[in-house]
Amino acid sequence: MRKTLLTLAVLASTALANALNLYSPDSTFVMEFKILDGGIPAYNLNYKGKPVILDSKLGLLLKADQGTMSYDDLSRKNDVVDKSSLYNGFEVKSVATASQDTVWNPVWGEESEIRDHYNEMAVTLHQKQNDRDMVIRFRLFNDGLGFRYEFPLQYNLNYFVIKEELSEFAMTGDHWAYWIPGDYDTQEYDYTKSRLSEIRGLLEAAVTGNLSQTIFSPTGVQTSLLLKTDDGIYMNLHEAALIDYSCMHLELDDKNMVFRSWLTPDAMGDKGYMQSPCKSPWRTIIVSDDARDILASRITLNLNEPCKIEDTSWIKPVKYVGVWWEMITGKCEWSYTYDLPSVKIGETDYTKVKPHGKHGATTENVKKYIDFAAEHGFDEVLVEGWNVGWEDWFGHSKDFVFDFVTPYPDFDLPYLRDYAKEKGVKIMMHHETSASVRNYERHLEQALQFMNDNNYDAAKLGYVGNIIPRGEKHYSQWMVNHYQYVLEQAAKHKVMINAHEAVRPTGICRTWPNLIGNEAARGTEYYAFGSIKTGHTTILPFTRLIGGPMDFTPGLFQMDIAKVNPNRPVKVNSTICNQLSLYMTLYSPLQMAADVPESYEPYMDAFQFIKDVHLDWDKSVYLEAEPFEYVTVARKVKNGEDWFVGSTNGEKKRTSKIKLDFLTPGAKYEATIYKDGKKADCYDNPTDYVIEKKKVTSKTTLKIDEARGGGYAITIRKL
Ligand code: NOJ
Ligand code: CA
Repeated sequence: MRKTLLTLAVLASTALANALNLYSPDSTFVMEFKILDGGIPAYNLNYKGKPVILDSKLGLLLKADQGTMSYDDLSRKNDVVDKSSLYNGFEVKSVATASQDTVWNPVWGEESEIRDHYNEMAVTLHQKQNDRDMVIRFRLFNDGLGFRYEFPLQYNLNYFVIKEELSEFAMTGDHWAYWIPGDYDTQEYDYTKSRLSEIRGLLEAAVTGNLSQTIFSPTGVQTSLLLKTDDGIYMNLHEAALIDYSCMHLELDDKNMVFRSWLTPDAMGDKGYMQSPCKSPWRTIIVSDDARDILASRITLNLNEPCKIEDTSWIKPVKYVGVWWEMITGKCEWSYTYDLPSVKIGETDYTKVKPHGKHGATTENVKKYIDFAAEHGFDEVLVEGWNVGWEDWFGHSKDFVFDFVTPYPDFDLPYLRDYAKEKGVKIMMHHETSASVRNYERHLEQALQFMNDNNYDAAKLGYVGNIIPRGEKHYSQWMVNHYQYVLEQAAKHKVMINAHEAVRPTGICRTWPNLIGNEAARGTEYYAFGSIKTGHTTILPFTRLIGGPMDFTPGLFQMDIAKVNPNRPVKVNSTICNQLSLYMTLYSPLQMAADVPESYEPYMDAFQFIKDVHLDWDKSVYLEAEPFEYVTVARKVKNGEDWFVGSTNGEKKRTSKIKLDFLTPGAKYEATIYKDGKKADCYDNPTDYVIEKKKVTSKTTLKIDEARGGGYAITIRKL
């Protein structure tokens, strides 16, 4: 571990500090902090001598009962400073600078060592009219900026309620944006690439087209947001360490091309209940003229706290199969009966109802999956629909819906638990909360203990439906605190968590590495619903994955869904090699082979890649990248000599050309290349592939054709 260098320079001056510069360690970036007229704090950012963020104001507006100003009042009347303003009337009280250059080791990840290298400036601001202080802390890395607000303990700012955060990100032009619409409850959207100026029209058209989206503003988008300028600069806006605060969206002022933060309201319409000392999450801006650097940036992880779990030996990467796809495709059901016993949880006598015969999580079916997992070296078998309550699991705003401990009568839990153990695999728990969060919290301790007692070590959570307490949103502060509570309680029980429909991640897996997965984007299930844009998986690494791993659940081999469920005439627009590549390009320590076992049988030679691929790496090298077009990455196995490569392609056919100069010079390797066949095409011929073996060294260059919606995967074994 490199030594931390800490230099503190405190300037006890007010007038002096009209403009303060902060440089990144390599001087690629310079950030300027200043106080604008009216005492409004602001910053701008230059990259390689060019502005990338113009003067952008910083601050917050507090709830009206602590003052009466609206944001418009504040911008018109800068000289008025009332109690609702944490926005104007500021002067610089002191400035502290520091530098750090350390290396830390994640429990799992894309590399085994992460460098945390930055220069920091913490500006303490004083607001005379209200006699209160606020600190804005900036950290400038060689790949971008992070800043956050800190509220020291003080009499005049002790309890406060946030009406809105007013952080700005002023763009230098009408950039390309890769965005999903603002929504307080879901990120399960296709991405759109458009000019900033086109967002309003596209969102308005989507609303009138009755897309199921709750738009808070006609120019509201979610983070992590990717931007590209006309001179080829890529920029990612997101947040890090979202703890005890509400999730940030961005609203575009499209006259001036300025994004402003827009927090998720709670059931009361408030945006944050705070008690000093406290702080906001970090707001992050990753910038590079090379798209690959955006993917390699570790700013989000670096801005989170070090690991808080002392003994991490129980946290492991997990490769799994599951009783899942057959429900998503409609072949089977989560529920046991259609003979709806409309009673409350725990009051249903399932021996008295008629099973519909389509239940997926039966003892016999789960046993089949356990055998398949054991035969092919998978760690776990996810079983959804194992517990009572699925007859009316969402849509009725039911408070008591599941108890998380009572199996259906045809799921012999003790037998399967012991059978799985004998075979050396684990069953993965599934807790669908139906977004009845109060019900889940009621049962959580018992549910985790039940897992400990029955040999479960990982749980997939679900939050489908409207949140109870009613009126809360999936991304409000109260819910953010809930996800965090579950994660920490689970850690006490040595349980790993993969939460679906939860707030999108912000690097918290550094502090709590038992968070091995999240959904928070459109995942494989949408292939079964017939709607994943080709190229979607080439934008996810630039957006959703910036915050942490995604449980995308790749591995579909049967691209004609009607072959799984004849009533679902849907085609998957992805080639088999595209699916293989996702194990590499969508990094996660949790990876599923999502298809039903029968789908793999005809293609066992290609399935071998899924069996072989690792989930934890020493090193990752991004070789090619362009959002919405392609991503190619090489990764070295943790504590090993072998490498794996994956390339995911979007809508246009292309030839990938990569140099294997990341291999050890002088060493010999054998590469097994899984690539699209000559006639492969994600729409017309998704199952055409070729497997080729060849000897390679660090001097080898490979040229590989990729189909529309195609890709390739390579195993490189050291000889
Ligand atoms: C939505 C999740 O994303 C999906 O994976 C799960 O099967 C269902 N909810 C049911 O919990
Ligand atoms: Ca989902």
